[in-house]
Amino acid sequence: MSDTTKQHKVLVLLGSPRKNGNSAALAKQIAAGAESAGAAVESIFIQDMNIKACQACWGCQKPDSKGCVIKDDMQELFAKLIEADSWVIATPVHWFNMSTQTKLWLDRCFALAKYGDNPFKKKIAIAISYGDADPYASGAVNAIRSFQDSFKYVGAKIIGMVYGSALEKGDMEKNEAVLIAAEKLGKKLAG
Ligand SMILES: Cc1cc2nc3c(=O)[nH]c(=O)nc-3n(C[C@H](O)[C@H](O)[C@H](O)COP(=O)(O)O)c2cc1C
Repeated sequence: MSDTTKQHKVLVLLGSPRKNGNSAALAKQIAAGAESAGAAVESIFIQDMNIKACQACWGCQKPDSKGCVIKDDMQELFAKLIEADSWVIATPVHWFNMSTQTKLWLDRCFALAKYGDNPFKKKIAIAISYGDADPYASGAVNAIRSFQDSFKYVGAKIIGMVYGSALEKGDMEKNEAVLIAAEKLGKKLAG
């Protein structure tokens, strides 16, 4: 198979501690859009993985670095992150920013900066849910800003974002407009 016919791989990172919640509902729609455009999708529930916090040892940034020194489930995830063409990052707003689970994962991605040809050259889609009425009052803007700054720093491209207000589990499924936007984003990601 030549590169032009290679199936697009999407890795979905579910950053809520709550399974099948509101941010996951957005991610599911993005995944459905990507699959309808021919992509292969794999989803990872971060909470189920043993991911320790970055120890700030800077070992991963040394010239002879062999990557992150912490031997936990991130080692398996690094390989998947590198292999994927696109990443979908889904997070709820917790205390006016992304969830702790998502931030744990994001901090550990620092180690990718020393893996050969820029491993951050991915298409990225962001999905955010929050309980307050709008992205400003909820603090979703802080998560958005963090993602924008982080991915700009490493040269990754955010293709699009979907976000919406939904407090209880199942609330996001009532927001048809944002679900349609999420599916559209998935198609764009894989296209
Ligand atoms: C610990 C915690 C902190 C939260 N902090 C905020 C917040 O700062 N702003 C907000 O709008 N909603 C906040 N929420 C509500 C969630 O963002 C909202 O319920 C979201 O849709 C949950 O998504 P999930 O189902 O994917 O976990 C918080 C919820 C929890 C459990």
